Amino acid sequence: MTSWVKWPGGHPRFGYGADYNPDQWDREVWQEDVALMQKAGVTIVSLGIFMWARVEPEDGRFDFSPYDELMDLLHAHGIAVCLATGTASPPPWLVRAHPEVLPVDAAGSVLEFGARQSWCPSSRVFMGYATRLARRVAEHYRDHPALAAWHVSNEYGCHNAHCFCPTSANEFRRWLTQRYGTVDELNRAWGTDFWSQRYASFDQVEPPRLAPTFGNPTQALDFARFSSDELLAQYVAEREVLREVTPGVPVTTNFMVGPNTKWMDYWRWGPEQDLVSNDHYLDEESAEPEVVLAFSADLTRGCARGEPWMLMEQSTSAVNWGRVNTPKVPGQLWRNSLAAVARGADSISYFQWRASAAGAEKFHSAMVPHAGPDSRVFREVCQEGARLAGLTPLLGQRSDNRVAVLFDYQSWWASEQDAHPRQDWRYRDAVLAWYEPLWRSNVGVDVVGPDADLGRYDLVVVPGLYLVTDATATAIADAAERGANVVVTSFSGIVDEDDRVRLGGYPGAFRDLVGVRSEEFVPLRPGQSVTLSDGSTVSSWAEDLTVVDDATTVVLAYASSPGGLLDGKPAVTVRPAGVGRAWYVSADLAADTQRSLLAQVLSEAGIGPVAPWTGALELVRRGDHVIAINHSDGAAEVEVAGHELLTDTPVGPRLVVPAGQTAVVRIG
Ligand code: GAL
Repeated sequence: MTSWVKWPGGHPRFGYGADYNPDQWDREVWQEDVALMQKAGVTIVSLGIFMWARVEPEDGRFDFSPYDELMDLLHAHGIAVCLATGTASPPPWLVRAHPEVLPVDAAGSVLEFGARQSWCPSSRVFMGYATRLARRVAEHYRDHPALAAWHVSNEYGCHNAHCFCPTSANEFRRWLTQRYGTVDELNRAWGTDFWSQRYASFDQVEPPRLAPTFGNPTQALDFARFSSDELLAQYVAEREVLREVTPGVPVTTNFMVGPNTKWMDYWRWGPEQDLVSNDHYLDEESAEPEVVLAFSADLTRGCARGEPWMLMEQSTSAVNWGRVNTPKVPGQLWRNSLAAVARGADSISYFQWRASAAGAEKFHSAMVPHAGPDSRVFREVCQEGARLAGLTPLLGQRSDNRVAVLFDYQSWWASEQDAHPRQDWRYRDAVLAWYEPLWRSNVGVDVVGPDADLGRYDLVVVPGLYLVTDATATAIADAAERGANVVVTSFSGIVDEDDRVRLGGYPGAFRDLVGVRSEEFVPLRPGQSVTLSDGSTVSSWAEDLTVVDDATTVVLAYASSPGGLLDGKPAVTVRPAGVGRAWYVSADLAADTQRSLLAQVLSEAGIGPVAPWTGALELVRRGDHVIAINHSDGAAEVEVAGHELLTDTPVGPRLVVPAGQTAVVRIG
């Protein structure tokens, strides 16, 4: 993952643009499009994402003529193209000739053609057609000067993450044979002696289809692993064709990295990309969508191993797929984009360039709305293009953060299965509960995977890591031994990679590190609560903890609990580990308690904010730049001196950032 888009003419610039779907419009509109793109400062578009039915109108007959014209037109206007392979959605002729490519749900119903992504991740028939199209597109455009990067398919697994058809079942058995070697080993890992599930051969194994009650959890976990691998294999198949035909043109596919998209293990996908790109839409369920946006951007940078990445899609204003789709407010477009740029994005794009007049997404916002260019949104779009053009000193700059938050897809899959201590436990909540106060403290965070090198971090937060391998548990313990503060939170270390419980007391894999042992989880019902020694209240999760190492200190204790079960027992502890410390937090803490605990941990780790500030301000450091984003309706102030890039003026030693405004300061 070393390449960036191949800019025509070579000189580096910010990527700025959109998914461009000109096939929905007549030729006259294309002329207006390129003129408006120039006005908006667009530098790159993703072309042809859903072009399959146009460019291959029948099996084996290819017609690229409209796209030839479009590629020339865009190039003539100085706009680079991240060209799609067009394989996101098969055309009708393909699914009618090969109905077996249609996905099947867990209840056995075929998901019909008529939406998108109607293909089974394990279908080799689909792969054959998709790689054939990718090859034809690549051969056709290999020498076109507008070609800057490849955009393979689109948001793999958005709608077709799991398929339960007979082909998937066969491939699942192949995958299991490779993983386990013998059926006895599968029986051991899956614990099949429970409920008479013991298999005599791999042939007897099926995907976890709808069943009378709770299915085997390791079967479900392996099916999730398998499904992510199958989609990745589809991507790799196309990528290999592209690398063969156009070596040197970087290949990407747009991820949906964030705390809401669960089914692709992007830690495995990241290394397969020449450059990482992500789509992020504001989290309408969240009171503070900017926190989720920041988390997703930090996680995307993690998948890109710290390299710059592309924000491939976001919305200029309202989406159309929520319950109530409200527009972004004035200035929010820019604040959202800058939050991504601050965290390593060197390209900002939208879905989509021009709002559709027809089809399922006609009420989704775009760079050019239904109202046309004489609109607030288009004016903000133009303003953003001009601002990004002034931020080129940020290009390629990396972050150097001292805090890691560990995030693991496989643990997520395992932890939210049926028949657990509480059905409404959400990994997302466990992680954001720690990310949010770090964000609010303006401390730079890297979101890292279970195989990350933790060596450079002074604080490692391990929230709700239910499933953990021995190797990851050792790496976390080593980080503490070496001097880091490690914070492990409740429901961590419980099972191994086969979802088998680590016996002897919770938190299993971390028991020795944190020096406590828990006998029981104590999830709380509505109306029940537990009080801690600082007078604060715990409302959903506690654990029955005992100190098992003399060096462990109790930071907070349980004061009162239903039936006195936990009274006087430890709730939050810390234990010296080598040169560092290992904290254990057994309960979901009230916001104030958590903030003061975090402040204590940060101060012991010697970690401060990006810069001192007053008021409500988001501060991020990228290379030798401080980025300030004021999401609030009051002015804020930050202690920073240097050159402000957006206004091209010197600033310091203090900078006032008015309500809703932003600043980008090169320090020094
Ligand atoms: C993405 C998708 C786009 C568009 C967008 C709408 O998931 O890649 O094609 O559907 O959502 O928000």
